Amino acid sequence: MIQTALDIQTIRKDFPILNRKVNGNPLVYLDNAATSQTPQQVIDVIVDYYSSYNANIHRGVHALSQEATDAYENARHKIQTHFNIAKPQEVILSSGTTHSINLVANGFSSLLKKGDEVLVSAMEHHSNIVPWQMLCERTGAVLKVIPMSLEGELLMDEYRALLSPRTKLVFCNHVSNALGTINPIQEIIDEAHKVGAAVVIDGAQAAPHIKADMQQLDVDFYTVSAHKLCGPTGVGMLYGKEEWLTKLPPYQGGGEMIAEVTFEKTTYADLPHKFEAGTPNICGGIAFGAALDYLNAIGMESIAQYEHELLTYATQQLLNIEGLKIYGTAKEKTSVISFNIEGIHPYDIGTILDKLGIAVRTGHHCAQPVMDFFGIPGTVRASFSFYNTKEEVDLLVKAVERARSMLL
Ligand code: ALA
Repeated sequence: MIQTALDIQTIRKDFPILNRKVNGNPLVYLDNAATSQTPQQVIDVIVDYYSSYNANIHRGVHALSQEATDAYENARHKIQTHFNIAKPQEVILSSGTTHSINLVANGFSSLLKKGDEVLVSAMEHHSNIVPWQMLCERTGAVLKVIPMSLEGELLMDEYRALLSPRTKLVFCNHVSNALGTINPIQEIIDEAHKVGAAVVIDGAQAAPHIKADMQQLDVDFYTVSAHKLCGPTGVGMLYGKEEWLTKLPPYQGGGEMIAEVTFEKTTYADLPHKFEAGTPNICGGIAFGAALDYLNAIGMESIAQYEHELLTYATQQLLNIEGLKIYGTAKEKTSVISFNIEGIHPYDIGTILDKLGIAVRTGHHCAQPVMDFFGIPGTVRASFSFYNTKEEVDLLVKAVERARSMLL
């Protein structure tokens, strides 16, 4: 029995896309970990921007430019408030998590030397592995991996054993995109700080479910993509402590990030503009702020509680299917279920589900090392959001049963 204070049917009316059909069936959208859907309230903000005040920011004296600048900076303020960030200059608006991580990895090129160590967790997305590998190639630093258990939980004793004065950076996702594990990031941060290492946390998969508090976590960097939390694609946040952002060199050169330019020498703008070269995704930034307003009006705690109920119900129902195995059985999980059925390729299940109007992701989920760890080519991943219903879980379970009987 799912009990929630949320009025899901009213919430669903905010999402026009949920009314559409796919292959003649009502859409059941269960690919929220890839991207979430956009409520009308955010779509309206996007339409309003392009209909009434589209202009470049921080540049013109004219009214439209001022309105756009105010709205953009207001969005930065909303992001700052949502994540309890001490100063607005610690909020860098990026194009998303991948951009944010590359910005930090690039910046550390001048701070690391041969023999330094960078730790990453075993359950990372490729965007959280490759930039650190590239950093290590540039600097001669060594990449080490924090291992995980078969349940998909990090082995914290092994993590502590890996830490040493050589450790300069620790990188971990807050929530695994492939398994749904919520990692103990407070402990990870505190332990890393004991040896003087900086910590970068990828919050892309956590932000739709958990309101992370930057000051309480005392994390050095934290990244978020707006499109995972009801905002548009192509915009996100890099939070960085001011002391680190001051130390890191700019990532890209261009307009907006300078104080003064001559052919002899350029000086850089103050934070956050030092890291915001070029015309940003202005509309996206404003819509990111609107998406946070939308989520906060519903309440992040109510969202997390309801999604957890969906997770518990879906897990129980799916496990009734013969031969179905769930990958990622950590005690602390968000509403992500990665699974396979013995003897069936995940892609085949995904294709049949799509024919029935059910959207899931199949494959390695940009986390090949996770799949290698479990010795599988990929999984079917169903990821639930607060606008999903128990009835949709039932449709998923029925469809997976049908796929099983067709394919075996
Ligand atoms: N990182 C996104 C996912 O897990 C795209 O699907």
